Amino acid sequence: MRVLGIETSCDETAAAVVDDGRIVRSSVVSSQVDLHARYGGVVPELAGRAHVELFTQVVAEALAAAGLSGGDGVGGAGGDSGSSGGRGSSGRAPVDAVAATCGPGLIGSLLVGVSGAKGLAMSWGVPFVGVNHLEGHLFASVIEEPDLGWPLVVLLVSGGHTLLVEMRGPGDYRLLGQTIDDAAGEAYDKVARYLGLGYPGGPVVDRIAATGDPTAFAFPRAMMDGSYDFSFSGLKTSVVRTVERHPDAATEDVAASFQEAVVDVLVAKARRAVVEIGAKGLCIGGGVAANSLLRQRVAEAAAGLDVPAYLPSLAMCTDNAAMVAAAGSWRLAHDGPSPLSLGADPNLFLPLMA
Ligand code: KG4
Ligand code: ZN
Repeated sequence: MRVLGIETSCDETAAAVVDDGRIVRSSVVSSQVDLHARYGGVVPELAGRAHVELFTQVVAEALAAAGLSGGDGVGGAGGDSGSSGGRGSSGRAPVDAVAATCGPGLIGSLLVGVSGAKGLAMSWGVPFVGVNHLEGHLFASVIEEPDLGWPLVVLLVSGGHTLLVEMRGPGDYRLLGQTIDDAAGEAYDKVARYLGLGYPGGPVVDRIAATGDPTAFAFPRAMMDGSYDFSFSGLKTSVVRTVERHPDAATEDVAASFQEAVVDVLVAKARRAVVEIGAKGLCIGGGVAANSLLRQRVAEAAAGLDVPAYLPSLAMCTDNAAMVAAAGSWRLAHDGPSPLSLGADPNLFLPLMA
């Protein structure tokens, strides 16, 4: 089963070819970070238009990198300037199915991927399958691990989401907790913006925090009362108040203290979930899973509990289409194809079991 995955839920235009749900033959990610950086965050209108411009080229690159030609569907149009290697159209479908993120995300961005994927699936005569972006992140957390024991506790932390999930197997999820306000990545981005560090904030805060004193400021750790839910908006406000009171504070110290507070809360809750569930491992996923302190603390917590820590490669943490193809392969085998009438849903929830 060879699946072309397509991801356009936010500001990454991505396409990937994955065999049998886990062998990544190619994964192309075209980031729009430069486009949005001057505005300090993603501008939905610009993101949607950029996806339209990049879609054909990114798909053609993913097919070419996997050694496939574009069949009848891709090539010639848009920016496909010969990147498919001039193999020409064979008339045969290069893949067995096309999967695309259908939510959650920005509606204008999602629609580009969903419509494009349906068009390719129709022209190739192969099934189309819509994928939940969050389920994609869950697959990304485990795609690189051949021997997994279930259940796993997965901490999914991105710019749009902060979820703690019990994953009992592919497709079998129980939501333990989630943020009641800002996502963890959103807190990084907002604090970085306030500190004048640019967008996206996570990588730069991560970098400068390494040279700061994490004990310089005692920022609040919210909802440490036994709940699995998270709250980061008070922390963000506390950073602002602190900098107002200490205008000479070193930015590195503020960043390090902020990061310490975020990671403390994330790891404490994930750790407790592993103990209470008796989980066989602790995974992280989403863009914030690229954070160096979080990775270190998750590894230490898992080692202390004598369970494996699954830390995906950085390319699998941030948005990519290999995770969409992997989740799509499983959904296709489990539920069959999606109808071509399937729309994009900006508020799609993770499909949960009882
Ligand atoms: O998963 P992702 O690529 O996109 C969403 O679905 O949101 O996550 C992007 C988020 C941004 O908020 C970014 O600041 C954050 O992940 N991020 C990080 C790091 N790298 C990316 N946060 C903390 N530390 C990092 N190293
Ligand atoms: Zn994401």
